[in-house]
Amino acid sequence: MSLNNRLLLELAQEYGTPLYVYDGDTIVQRYKELYDFIKWPKLKVHYAMKANYNFSILKALKEAGSGIDAVSPGDVMMALKAGFAPENIIYTANNVTDEEVRQVKNMGVLLNIGSLSRLEKFGKEFPGSKICLRFNPDVVDGEHAKLMTGGDLTKFGILMQDVEKVKAIIAKYNLTVVGLHEHTGSGLQHTSSVFKSMENLMAIATPGNFPDLRFLDFGGGFKVPYKPDEKRVDYVEMGAEITRLFSEFCAKYGKDLQMYFEPGKFIVAEGAYMLVTVNTIKDNKGRLIIGCNSGFPQLVRPMMYEAYHHIVNVSNPEGEIKVYDICGNICETGDHFAQEREMSKISEGDVLSIENAGAYCYSMGGVYNLRAMPAEVFVKDGEAKLARKGLSSEELIEQIIGESN
Ligand code: LLP
Repeated sequence: MSLNNRLLLELAQEYGTPLYVYDGDTIVQRYKELYDFIKWPKLKVHYAMKANYNFSILKALKEAGSGIDAVSPGDVMMALKAGFAPENIIYTANNVTDEEVRQVKNMGVLLNIGSLSRLEKFGKEFPGSKICLRFNPDVVDGEHAKLMTGGDLTKFGILMQDVEKVKAIIAKYNLTVVGLHEHTGSGLQHTSSVFKSMENLMAIATPGNFPDLRFLDFGGGFKVPYKPDEKRVDYVEMGAEITRLFSEFCAKYGKDLQMYFEPGKFIVAEGAYMLVTVNTIKDNKGRLIIGCNSGFPQLVRPMMYEAYHHIVNVSNPEGEIKVYDICGNICETGDHFAQEREMSKISEGDVLSIENAGAYCYSMGGVYNLRAMPAEVFVKDGEAKLARKGLSSEELIEQIIGESN
C-alpha cells in the first residue's frame, strides 16, 4: 500500500527533483479507515486541510465524502472551489479579525469560536446566529512540546471553568450553540488523552448548559508511525472505546448527536514522498555529509520539531549500510533532514525519498533563499499526473517583484 522505489525513481526522472509525490489511494484509504474504526453511525470526518491543501488531494477527499476543517478565508475559498458545500466546512481559526469573521460567515460556513472576547464581538454583530464553541480540553499531549494544544498555558479554546460566562453571552445575544469542540494536540502519544479530552468536553455538554447541540467535535491528532519500527496505534480498540464513551454520553444527553473528528496527519502523512537528488558528498574526518537539492523551507518538520522522517535511497535501496547526515541546500547549519542516519550507500546523483511527507510538509513550505517550492505529482488508480507545477527561478522572481517593478 505504498508507492514502490522504481516508480518513485521514474517520477523523479520524468518530473525532475525536488518533487513531492502523493499516493492518492493511500490517502483515500486512510480517510475511509476512520469509518471502520469508529462505528458511530453519525460520525463525520472533516479533513484538516492545513496539513496539505493540494487541490488533487482535496478533490479526492471530497469525492470520498469528507468535510473540511478550515483555518483561514483562503482555506474556505479553496475548499469551496474543490466542491465542498459550505455546510460541510467548519471554521476553526485562531485569533481572527472582525473582517475575517464576516468574510467566512458570508460564505455560509459555521464558525467555531475559541475565546470569550470573540464570542462577545460575534454576538454583538450577529445576534441570533448558530455557532460552535471551542473549549480547551485541559489535557496535555502531542508528539512535541510545540504540538501540545490543550492546557491553560496555550492560546487555544475557552477554559471549561468559563462555561457560566459563555452562557451569559449566549443568552445576551440569543445565540444557538449547535456544536462544542476540543482539540488536544497533534500526534497524540496516549489514547487515554483522546478519551480524557472527550470526557472533559462531554462533562460540560449537558442539556442544561447547551440544549441545542447537534454535534461534538473532538479535533484531530491521531498519531501515525514515522519510524519504521514504530508501533501503529490499535485504532480498532481506540475506535471502540470512542464509540462506547460517546453512546453513553448521548444516552445521558437524550439525543444521538453527530460525532466529528478533524484529522490531518492521519489522513495524509503516510501517502507522500519528497524526492531529492544528492549533489555533493563530503567526508569530514569520517562523518559523511550528504548535500541534496532541497532544504528545510521545502520540508521543515525535522528542523522545527526534531521530527524523524524515514529516508530511502531509491537509486540504491539494497546497498551497504553506512551512517550519513542528510543536509539541504540552504545557508543554515540546522538545514538537515536527518543526522547520523543509517542508510544504503549513497553516491552523487542518487535520488533519496523522504517518506511520510504528506502532512505539514509542502503546506508549511516557503521560498527562503529564493528557491521555489517543488512540483507536486498525484498518483491514483495507477495514474500519475502533475498536480501543481514548480516555479522556475524566473517565475518566482516575477511573482515576488510583480506590480511593484
Ligand atoms: N483540528 C485543529 C483545531 C487543529 O489545530 C489541528 C492541527 C487539527 C485539527 C489536525 O491535527 P492533526 O490530525 O493533523 O494532528 N505542523 C505540525 C502539526 C500542527 C497541527 C496544528 N493543528 C506538524 O508538522 O507536526
